[in-house]
Formats: sequence, structure tokens, C-alpha cells
Amino acid sequence: MTTKVKNYFHIEFEMLKDKKIFPFHLYVYNRVSDKYSPFIFANSPLTSDKANFLEMIIEKGGILAVDETQKRTFLMAQDLKEEDVPSLQEPELTELEKQQIENQKALENKRKEEGEYNFQAGLASCLKDNNFLPMILSVKEETQAFSMRVNHTVSLARHLSLELLVEDNFINRIVAVSYYLAKNCDMKDELALGDVICGAFFCHLGHTQMDFHLSHKPHLEFDYEEEKKYKKHPGLAQHILNKSKVDLSGRCKVIISSHHERYDGNGYPTNRMGSHIDILALIVGAVSHIFEFSEGKVNGRVQPIKSVLRLMKNKVFTAGLEFEYGDTIYENIINILSENELESEDKSDEEKVTEEIEQRLVA
Ligand SMILES: [Fe+2]
Repeated sequence: MTTKVKNYFHIEFEMLKDKKIFPFHLYVYNRVSDKYSPFIFANSPLTSDKANFLEMIIEKGGILAVDETQKRTFLMAQDLKEEDVPSLQEPELTELEKQQIENQKALENKRKEEGEYNFQAGLASCLKDNNFLPMILSVKEETQAFSMRVNHTVSLARHLSLELLVEDNFINRIVAVSYYLAKNCDMKDELALGDVICGAFFCHLGHTQMDFHLSHKPHLEFDYEEEKKYKKHPGLAQHILNKSKVDLSGRCKVIISSHHERYDGNGYPTNRMGSHIDILALIVGAVSHIFEFSEGKVNGRVQPIKSVLRLMKNKVFTAGLEFEYGDTIYENIINILSENELESEDKSDEEKVTEEIEQRLVA
């Protein structure tokens, strides 16, 4: 069953004129709850008591509104033209919105000429050169075409991408690969992509509140107390974000708090299982884990991403390597590189990539 979402337009109290009865419903918008409530139904009289009450509500910040489906009835009954009602006019575009429209056109033209960004080929090329900047910049380009009026998280994702997706670093790699993996799993709407971008940027914010050595010691070498402390980082990230009053969507908060939950229930902090874990949290969790494993943050051994993906594909049970992301994500991960790409690398190639990762980590 689908529920029709109602849209309203705002009107001034004066637009009611001296009339006491109306062929349309009157609603009041509450800024605090962001909700519209019926005030007077059509053909019910606006008594002086109700009019006084309405004036008081407006004085306190409430806004009078009419259902958009009754626009014609309202204009005819109140003898008004559409141009007399400011809320019915197209809002003037801000400079940012004009820029967004330009970006959208430029991206559409690029897609017509070159097609959509090819995640599989793009990733293969990033791995070959051990340089993720082209993929990172591609995410930046796509997010700059995101609409400005979806929600705060999408706008924040757009802003963070513009400011931060300018270099090849650990977090930006996780953001970029999570973004394209989400698209690859058919989550292409701006709401989901905004959530995944902000979730990937913020999920490790909790590391800043832990002892420095915990972020630099391989996880498998943690003693019981250290592991307990480390496992608090999703909650710490959430705590910092709540304290700083960053306006994030509920789903984005879920991604941050549950990016270490695993499909088989062996994750943390709540041991959720299967479909009880948001698929976007599993995506961010899987991508973070692959990069962490590659950079030796799990077992202390640096190894190329291709080797990690190969271990995952072949389900080679290796200490600290996690596979439990559910079938959809697992299939997507092991197929993001073609068979050819995943074939065993030349030993010298593997050593060269490992050396490059080590050098980048030192830098
Ligand atoms: Fe984490």
C-alpha cells in the first residue's frame, strides 16, 4: 500500500480576508516538529475565538498553510492570483544552486561522451598504479552534482567531498570505494550515497578519542583490555557527533555505530545478525576492513589489496580476515576485480606494491 505524501503551500493570515468560512482546509505548520496539523476543516466557521488562537499561534512562529491539491479552490475563493502568494513562486536560486546545476550539466555531458564511471576498470587502474586519486576525484565530481535540497546529510556529503576529496589518503580511499561499491549494489539515490559518504568519513572519528598506540598497533596483538577499548570507537564517534550537534540522518548514524557488525553476528558492538544490519554499514565495514588489512592494521603484515581480495575470494581463512558481509556484498566485493586482475601477481610485482604501501604509510 502506498501513502500519498501531502504537500502544502504557506499563506499569510491577511489572505483569509474578512471571510469566516472557507471551501478549503487550513493547516498550521509547526517549525519545531516540522509537521503540518489541520486547524480548521473546510466549511467549518473561523469563530473569533479560533481566529484569536490562530493569531497567537502565528505570533509564536506557526505558519498557516493550505494543501497543494486545494490551490485552485483557495485562489478562487480568496480572489487571489498565484503571483500574489510568495510561497507559490519558484524560489530564487542561490549561487551554490546555480553552481550545482552547472556541475550536473557538465557531468551529464561527460557521461554522454565517456559513459558512467566504470568501477571495475577504475579500481584495477588505481591498484595497478597504487594511486586512488582518479577514483577519489571522480566521487568528488559526482557529488558536486547532488541536489542542494535533499537533506542535511546529502549537503554535508557534498561539502566534505568538495573540501576533502582532493588527495589520495586512507580515509578518502574508504569513502571512494564505499561510494562506488554502494552504487554497484544498486544503491544509487542521493540519500543513500550521502549517508554512505558521511558514514565513511565519520566512522573512525572515535580513534581520535583513544590512546594513540591503539590506532597504530595491529589488532591481533591487542590484549583483552586494549581490544575492549578499541571496540568502543564506533560509540565514541557517535558521541562526538552528537556533542558537536552535526545534523546527520538516522541511517548515517546507524552506519557509523554498526560498521563493525558482521552478518554472522560475530561483530560488535551489539552482535546484530543478517538483515538486522544496514547494508550500507556492511559496505563501509567491508571496505574499511579491506584497506585496514592491506595496510597491516589487523595482523601487522602489509600486503596488496589484490592479495586481500584473492584471500577473500578463495575464502582462505587467515587470522583477522573477515568475510561475513552477507551474500550480496560478498559477491560484489569478489567481483569488483575481473578474474584476470585477481590472478596471482608476479612475486616481484607483489613485493613492489607492498613496498609502495609501506612507503606511503611512513610518509
Ligand atoms: Fe572501525
